[in-house]
Amino acid sequence: MPESFSDRLLLWFVQYGRLDLPWQANPTPYRVWVSEIMLQQTQVKTVIPYYQRFMQRFPDIRALALAQIDEVLHHWSGLGYYARARNLYKAASIVANDYQDDFPETLDGLMSLPGIGRSTAGAILSLACKQRQPILDGNVKRILCRYHAVAGWPGQKAVENRLWELAEYHTPNTDVADYTQAIMDLGATLCRRGTPDCERCPLEEHCLAKQLGEQARYPECKPKKVLPTKSVVFAMMENEQGEVLLQQRPPSGIWGGLWSFPEYVDVSDMTSNLESDYAVMLLSSEEYNVFTHTFSHFRLMITPIHIKIRQNKNTLMDNSCIKWQQPDNPDQLGLPMPVVSLLNSFYQEEENRHESNGELHQAG
Ligand code: ADE
Repeated sequence: MPESFSDRLLLWFVQYGRLDLPWQANPTPYRVWVSEIMLQQTQVKTVIPYYQRFMQRFPDIRALALAQIDEVLHHWSGLGYYARARNLYKAASIVANDYQDDFPETLDGLMSLPGIGRSTAGAILSLACKQRQPILDGNVKRILCRYHAVAGWPGQKAVENRLWELAEYHTPNTDVADYTQAIMDLGATLCRRGTPDCERCPLEEHCLAKQLGEQARYPECKPKKVLPTKSVVFAMMENEQGEVLLQQRPPSGIWGGLWSFPEYVDVSDMTSNLESDYAVMLLSSEEYNVFTHTFSHFRLMITPIHIKIRQNKNTLMDNSCIKWQQPDNPDQLGLPMPVVSLLNSFYQEEENRHESNGELHQAG
Protein backbone atom coordinates (compact mmCIF):
# COMPACT_ATOMS: atom_id res chain seq x y z
CA MET A 1 0.00 0.00 0.00
CA PRO A 2 1.46 3.41 -0.92
CA GLU A 3 2.11 5.77 1.93
CA SER A 4 1.11 9.25 0.85
CA PHE A 5 -2.40 10.65 1.06
CA SER A 6 -2.53 11.41 -2.67
CA ASP A 7 -1.08 8.06 -3.79
CA ARG A 8 -3.61 6.15 -1.72
CA LEU A 9 -6.40 8.27 -3.09
CA LEU A 10 -5.23 7.90 -6.69
CA LEU A 11 -4.98 4.12 -6.37
CA TRP A 12 -8.49 3.99 -4.95
CA PHE A 13 -9.78 6.27 -7.73
CA VAL A 14 -8.71 3.88 -10.50
CA GLN A 15 -10.95 1.21 -9.08
CA TYR A 16 -13.78 3.08 -7.38
CA GLY A 17 -13.83 6.64 -8.73
CA ARG A 18 -16.56 8.02 -10.96
CA LEU A 19 -15.22 7.98 -14.50
CA ASP A 20 -18.33 8.45 -16.61
CA LEU A 21 -19.66 11.84 -15.58
CA PRO A 22 -20.58 13.93 -18.65
CA TRP A 23 -18.19 16.78 -17.79
CA GLN A 24 -15.29 14.31 -17.67
CA ALA A 25 -15.59 13.80 -21.42
CA ASN A 26 -13.64 16.53 -23.22
CA PRO A 27 -12.89 18.53 -20.07
CA THR A 28 -12.37 22.01 -21.51
CA PRO A 29 -12.33 24.98 -19.10
CA TYR A 30 -15.79 25.94 -20.38
CA ARG A 31 -17.32 22.49 -19.80
CA VAL A 32 -15.67 22.07 -16.40
CA TRP A 33 -16.67 25.59 -15.36
CA VAL A 34 -20.38 25.04 -16.20
CA SER A 35 -20.37 21.71 -14.35
CA GLU A 36 -18.68 23.17 -11.28
CA ILE A 37 -21.18 26.03 -11.09
CA MET A 38 -24.13 23.64 -11.46
CA LEU A 39 -22.64 21.30 -8.85
CA GLN A 40 -22.07 24.06 -6.28
CA GLN A 41 -25.46 23.61 -4.63
CA THR A 42 -26.93 20.65 -6.48
CA GLN A 43 -26.34 16.90 -6.46
CA VAL A 44 -24.67 15.09 -9.35
CA LYS A 45 -27.73 13.07 -10.35
CA THR A 46 -29.90 16.18 -10.54
CA VAL A 47 -27.26 18.10 -12.47
CA ILE A 48 -26.58 15.54 -15.23
CA PRO A 49 -29.71 16.09 -17.40
CA TYR A 50 -29.49 19.87 -16.95
CA TYR A 51 -25.85 19.81 -17.91
CA GLN A 52 -26.54 17.80 -21.03
CA ARG A 53 -29.34 20.10 -22.22
CA PHE A 54 -27.22 23.15 -21.41
CA MET A 55 -24.26 21.86 -23.40
CA GLN A 56 -26.46 20.99 -26.35
CA ARG A 57 -27.84 24.51 -26.52
CA PHE A 58 -24.69 26.40 -25.42
CA PRO A 59 -21.80 24.19 -26.56
CA ASP A 60 -19.14 26.86 -26.05
CA ILE A 61 -18.54 30.20 -24.39
CA ARG A 62 -19.51 32.17 -27.52
CA ALA A 63 -22.88 30.46 -27.77
CA LEU A 64 -23.52 31.35 -24.13
CA ALA A 65 -22.32 34.93 -24.47
CA LEU A 66 -24.52 35.51 -27.53
CA ALA A 67 -27.67 34.04 -25.96
CA GLN A 68 -30.42 36.02 -24.24
CA ILE A 69 -30.34 35.80 -20.45
CA ASP A 70 -33.95 34.57 -20.46
CA GLU A 71 -32.96 31.52 -22.44
CA VAL A 72 -30.08 30.82 -20.08
CA LEU A 73 -32.42 31.11 -17.10
CA HIS A 74 -34.90 28.86 -18.87
CA HIS A 75 -32.22 26.15 -19.11
CA TRP A 76 -31.51 26.67 -15.44
CA SER A 77 -35.10 26.57 -14.23
CA GLY A 78 -35.50 23.85 -11.64
CA LEU A 79 -31.86 23.97 -10.52
CA GLY A 80 -32.50 26.92 -8.17
CA TYR A 81 -30.08 29.58 -6.95
CA TYR A 82 -30.50 31.60 -10.13
CA ALA A 83 -27.72 34.02 -9.25
CA ARG A 84 -25.46 31.21 -10.45
CA ALA A 85 -26.96 31.39 -13.95
CA ARG A 86 -26.80 35.19 -14.02
CA ASN A 87 -23.13 35.11 -13.02
CA LEU A 88 -22.42 32.42 -15.58
CA TYR A 89 -23.92 34.62 -18.28
CA LYS A 90 -22.03 37.73 -17.13
CA ALA A 91 -18.76 35.80 -16.96
CA ALA A 92 -19.35 34.39 -20.46
CA SER A 93 -19.66 37.93 -21.90
CA ILE A 94 -16.47 38.97 -20.13
CA VAL A 95 -14.51 35.97 -21.41
CA ALA A 96 -15.90 36.40 -24.93
CA ASN A 97 -15.22 40.16 -25.05
CA ASP A 98 -12.10 40.64 -22.94
CA TYR A 99 -10.33 37.32 -23.47
CA GLN A 100 -11.32 36.47 -27.07
CA ASP A 101 -13.30 33.40 -25.92
CA ASP A 102 -10.39 31.83 -24.05
CA PHE A 103 -10.69 31.43 -20.30
CA PRO A 104 -7.88 33.02 -18.32
CA GLU A 105 -5.71 30.18 -17.03
CA THR A 106 -4.61 31.73 -13.75
CA LEU A 107 -6.16 31.68 -10.31
CA ASP A 108 -6.44 35.48 -10.20
CA GLY A 109 -7.81 35.72 -13.73
CA LEU A 110 -10.52 33.14 -13.03
CA MET A 111 -11.35 34.56 -9.62
CA SER A 112 -11.94 37.99 -11.16
CA LEU A 113 -14.95 36.53 -13.02
CA PRO A 114 -18.41 36.66 -11.41
CA GLY A 115 -19.35 33.52 -9.47
CA ILE A 116 -15.87 31.95 -9.45
CA GLY A 117 -14.30 31.56 -6.02
CA ARG A 118 -10.95 30.05 -5.14
CA SER A 119 -12.12 26.45 -5.03
CA THR A 120 -14.02 26.64 -8.33
CA ALA A 121 -10.98 28.29 -9.91
CA GLY A 122 -8.80 25.48 -8.51
CA ALA A 123 -11.17 22.87 -9.93
CA ILE A 124 -11.14 24.44 -13.41
CA LEU A 125 -7.34 24.77 -13.44
CA SER A 126 -6.69 21.26 -12.16
CA LEU A 127 -9.42 19.37 -14.05
CA ALA A 128 -9.20 21.21 -17.37
CA CYS A 129 -5.70 22.75 -17.48
CA LYS A 130 -3.84 20.07 -15.46
CA GLN A 131 -2.31 22.74 -13.25
CA ARG A 132 -1.35 21.85 -9.70
CA GLN A 133 -4.04 23.76 -7.83
CA PRO A 134 -5.85 22.61 -4.69
CA ILE A 135 -9.60 22.71 -4.23
CA LEU A 136 -11.56 23.10 -1.01
CA ASP A 137 -15.24 22.46 -1.50
CA GLY A 138 -17.54 21.04 1.19
CA ASN A 139 -16.50 17.44 0.52
CA VAL A 140 -12.80 18.23 0.72
CA LYS A 141 -13.27 20.25 3.91
CA ARG A 142 -14.99 17.26 5.51
CA ILE A 143 -12.22 14.85 4.49
CA LEU A 144 -9.42 17.12 5.70
CA CYS A 145 -11.19 17.99 8.97
CA ARG A 146 -11.53 14.29 9.74
CA TYR A 147 -8.14 13.16 8.48
CA HIS A 148 -6.31 15.79 10.56
CA ALA A 149 -8.95 16.15 13.33
CA VAL A 150 -9.09 19.88 12.62
CA ALA A 151 -11.01 21.56 15.42
CA GLY A 152 -13.34 24.52 14.84
CA TRP A 153 -16.03 25.38 12.37
CA PRO A 154 -14.70 25.50 8.75
CA GLY A 155 -16.67 28.72 8.16
CA GLN A 156 -14.23 30.50 10.50
CA LYS A 157 -11.46 32.23 8.61
CA ALA A 158 -8.63 30.72 10.70
CA VAL A 159 -9.98 27.19 10.24
CA GLU A 160 -10.51 27.75 6.53
CA ASN A 161 -6.95 29.03 6.15
CA ARG A 162 -5.63 25.93 7.90
CA LEU A 163 -7.68 23.73 5.56
CA TRP A 164 -6.28 25.53 2.50
CA GLU A 165 -2.76 24.84 3.78
CA LEU A 166 -3.60 21.16 4.16
CA ALA A 167 -5.30 21.03 0.75
CA GLU A 168 -2.23 22.60 -0.80
CA TYR A 169 0.07 20.21 1.06
CA HIS A 170 -1.71 17.07 -0.16
CA THR A 171 -2.16 18.11 -3.82
CA PRO A 172 0.30 16.06 -5.87
CA ASN A 173 2.57 17.33 -8.61
CA THR A 174 1.32 14.82 -11.14
CA ASP A 175 -2.11 13.35 -11.94
CA VAL A 176 -3.69 16.45 -10.49
CA ALA A 177 -6.93 16.14 -12.50
CA ASP A 178 -7.49 12.58 -11.26
CA TYR A 179 -6.56 13.62 -7.73
CA THR A 180 -9.10 16.48 -7.76
CA GLN A 181 -11.85 14.22 -9.04
CA ALA A 182 -10.80 11.49 -6.59
CA ILE A 183 -11.00 13.65 -3.48
CA MET A 184 -14.44 14.92 -4.52
CA ASP A 185 -15.59 11.36 -5.18
CA LEU A 186 -14.28 10.10 -1.84
CA GLY A 187 -16.24 12.83 -0.05
CA ALA A 188 -19.40 12.06 -2.01
CA THR A 189 -19.27 8.26 -1.72
CA LEU A 190 -17.38 7.17 1.44
CA CYS A 191 -16.45 10.09 3.68
CA ARG A 192 -20.11 11.10 3.84
CA ARG A 193 -21.55 13.60 6.26
CA GLY A 194 -23.82 11.20 8.13
CA THR A 195 -22.25 7.76 8.29
CA PRO A 196 -18.79 7.54 6.74
CA ASP A 197 -17.85 4.15 5.33
CA CYS A 198 -14.39 4.04 6.96
CA GLU A 199 -13.88 0.32 6.31
CA ARG A 200 -13.66 0.96 2.57
CA CYS A 201 -11.71 4.21 2.80
CA PRO A 202 -8.13 4.24 1.44
CA LEU A 203 -7.18 6.89 4.02
CA GLU A 204 -8.56 5.07 7.05
CA GLU A 205 -5.23 3.94 8.48
CA HIS A 206 -3.94 7.49 9.03
CA CYS A 207 -7.23 9.25 9.62
CA LEU A 208 -7.05 10.91 13.04
CA ALA A 209 -10.81 11.16 13.52
CA LYS A 210 -11.10 7.42 12.83
CA GLN A 211 -8.29 6.64 15.27
CA LEU A 212 -10.05 8.72 17.92
CA GLY A 213 -13.44 7.19 17.05
CA GLU A 214 -14.68 10.75 16.50
CA GLN A 215 -15.72 10.82 12.85
CA ALA A 216 -19.07 12.33 13.81
CA ARG A 217 -17.41 15.26 15.56
CA TYR A 218 -15.67 16.56 12.41
CA PRO A 219 -16.14 18.94 10.76
CA GLU A 220 -17.36 20.83 13.80
CA CYS A 221 -20.66 22.66 13.60
CA LYS A 222 -21.17 26.37 13.47
CA PRO A 223 -21.18 27.60 17.08
CA LYS A 224 -24.74 28.22 18.18
CA LYS A 225 -25.53 31.80 19.00
CA VAL A 226 -26.68 32.18 22.59
CA LEU A 227 -29.98 33.89 22.03
CA PRO A 228 -31.47 36.25 24.61
CA THR A 229 -34.81 35.14 26.05
CA LYS A 230 -37.88 37.31 26.52
CA SER A 231 -41.03 36.27 28.34
CA VAL A 232 -44.55 37.20 27.52
CA VAL A 233 -48.06 36.31 28.64
CA PHE A 234 -50.69 35.68 25.96
CA ALA A 235 -54.19 36.60 27.16
CA MET A 236 -56.50 34.16 25.40
CA MET A 237 -59.81 35.77 26.29
CA GLU A 238 -62.99 33.80 25.70
CA ASN A 239 -66.38 35.51 25.86
CA GLU A 240 -69.68 33.88 26.72
CA GLN A 241 -70.31 33.01 23.05
CA GLY A 242 -67.09 30.94 23.00
CA GLU A 243 -65.30 33.53 20.84
CA VAL A 244 -61.67 34.49 21.39
CA LEU A 245 -60.19 37.93 21.00
CA LEU A 246 -57.47 38.45 18.38
CA GLN A 247 -55.63 41.69 17.95
CA GLN A 248 -53.64 42.89 14.96
CA ARG A 249 -49.99 43.59 15.66
CA PRO A 250 -48.27 46.78 14.54
CA PRO A 251 -47.20 46.69 10.88
CA SER A 252 -43.49 46.41 11.58
CA GLY A 253 -41.48 44.26 13.96
CA ILE A 254 -42.08 40.68 15.04
CA TRP A 255 -45.16 39.18 13.35
CA GLY A 256 -45.83 42.62 11.80
CA GLY A 257 -49.47 42.94 10.72
CA LEU A 258 -50.40 39.40 11.86
CA TRP A 259 -53.17 38.64 14.34
CA SER A 260 -52.29 37.40 17.81
CA PHE A 261 -53.48 37.49 21.43
CA PRO A 262 -53.12 40.55 23.63
CA GLU A 263 -49.74 40.43 25.34
CA TYR A 264 -48.65 41.29 28.85
CA VAL A 265 -45.25 41.31 30.49
CA ASP A 266 -46.33 38.84 33.19
CA VAL A 267 -49.38 37.51 35.00
CA SER A 268 -49.66 40.36 37.47
CA ASP A 269 -49.42 42.94 34.68
CA MET A 270 -52.23 41.08 32.97
CA THR A 271 -54.49 40.82 36.01
CA SER A 272 -54.02 44.49 36.83
CA ASN A 273 -54.76 45.76 33.33
CA LEU A 274 -56.82 43.35 31.30
CA GLU A 275 -60.24 44.40 32.65
CA SER A 276 -59.70 48.08 31.99
CA ASP A 277 -57.81 47.61 28.70
CA TYR A 278 -60.66 45.64 27.13
CA ALA A 279 -63.60 46.65 29.38
CA VAL A 280 -64.31 43.06 30.40
CA MET A 281 -64.96 41.27 33.68
CA LEU A 282 -62.59 38.43 34.47
CA LEU A 283 -64.51 35.28 35.48
CA SER A 284 -61.81 32.60 35.62
CA SER A 285 -58.32 31.92 34.31
CA GLU A 286 -56.23 28.84 33.59
CA GLU A 287 -52.55 28.73 32.64
CA TYR A 288 -51.51 26.51 29.76
CA ASN A 289 -48.00 25.05 29.56
CA VAL A 290 -45.25 27.53 28.85
CA PHE A 291 -43.57 27.02 25.48
CA THR A 292 -40.73 28.65 23.57
CA HIS A 293 -40.81 30.10 20.08
CA THR A 294 -37.40 30.86 18.55
CA PHE A 295 -36.83 33.85 16.28
CA SER A 296 -33.53 34.49 14.50
CA HIS A 297 -32.32 36.84 17.23
CA PHE A 298 -34.17 35.87 20.41
CA ARG A 299 -36.32 33.25 22.10
CA LEU A 300 -39.79 34.07 23.24
CA MET A 301 -41.10 32.15 26.26
CA ILE A 302 -44.85 32.27 25.98
CA THR A 303 -47.24 31.67 28.88
CA PRO A 304 -50.71 31.28 27.41
CA ILE A 305 -53.57 32.01 29.81
CA HIS A 306 -57.11 31.05 28.98
CA ILE A 307 -59.37 33.65 30.56
CA LYS A 308 -63.12 33.46 30.61
CA ILE A 309 -64.59 36.94 30.57
CA ARG A 310 -67.94 38.67 30.57
CA GLN A 311 -68.23 41.55 28.14
CA ASN A 312 -69.34 44.91 29.55
CA LYS A 313 -71.49 47.41 27.75
CA ASN A 314 -68.41 49.25 26.55
CA THR A 315 -66.31 46.18 25.73
CA LEU A 316 -64.18 46.81 22.67
CA MET A 317 -66.11 45.33 19.77
CA ASP A 318 -64.73 44.24 16.41
CA ASN A 319 -62.87 47.03 14.73
CA SER A 320 -59.95 47.28 12.36
CA CYS A 321 -57.50 45.87 14.89
CA ILE A 322 -59.61 43.74 17.22
CA LYS A 323 -61.76 40.75 16.33
CA TRP A 324 -63.77 38.27 18.34
CA GLN A 325 -63.44 35.00 16.47
CA GLN A 326 -64.65 31.43 16.79
CA PRO A 327 -61.41 29.53 17.59
CA ASP A 328 -62.09 26.83 14.99
CA ASN A 329 -62.79 29.32 12.26
CA PRO A 330 -60.70 32.46 12.34
CA ASP A 331 -61.55 34.56 9.24
CA GLN A 332 -58.91 34.79 6.57
CA LEU A 333 -56.51 36.34 9.05
CA GLY A 334 -52.73 36.07 8.96
CA LEU A 335 -51.79 34.17 12.12
CA PRO A 336 -48.32 33.36 13.48
CA MET A 337 -47.70 29.61 13.85
CA PRO A 338 -47.84 29.55 17.69
CA VAL A 339 -51.23 31.32 17.55
CA VAL A 340 -52.54 28.70 15.11
CA SER A 341 -51.39 25.93 17.50
CA LEU A 342 -52.92 27.66 20.51
CA LEU A 343 -56.23 28.16 18.75
CA ASN A 344 -56.19 24.48 17.80
CA SER A 345 -55.50 23.30 21.32
CA PHE A 346 -58.06 25.74 22.66
CA TYR A 347 -60.64 24.41 20.23
CA GLN A 348 -59.63 20.80 20.94
CA GLU A 349 -60.05 21.37 24.65
CA GLU A 350 -63.54 22.77 24.14
CA GLU A 351 -64.43 19.76 21.96
CA ASN A 352 -63.13 17.35 24.61
CA ARG A 353 -65.08 19.13 27.28
CA HIS A 354 -68.27 18.77 25.25
CA GLU A 355 -67.54 15.12 24.50
CA SER A 356 -66.84 14.21 28.12
CA ASN A 357 -69.96 16.10 29.23
CA GLY A 358 -71.84 14.04 26.67
CA GLU A 359 -70.39 10.78 28.05
CA LEU A 360 -71.25 11.76 31.60
CA HIS A 361 -74.73 12.51 30.42
CA GLN A 362 -75.07 9.12 28.77
CA ALA A 363 -73.54 7.28 31.70
CA GLY A 364 -75.80 9.09 34.10
N1 ADE B 1 -18.92 18.28 -7.24
C1 ADE B 1 -18.23 19.33 -7.61
N2 ADE B 1 -17.45 19.06 -8.66
C2 ADE B 1 -17.68 17.77 -8.99
C3 ADE B 1 -17.19 16.90 -9.98
N3 ADE B 1 -16.30 17.32 -10.88
N4 ADE B 1 -17.63 15.64 -9.99
C4 ADE B 1 -18.53 15.24 -9.06
N5 ADE B 1 -19.03 16.00 -8.12
C5 ADE B 1 -18.62 17.27 -8.07
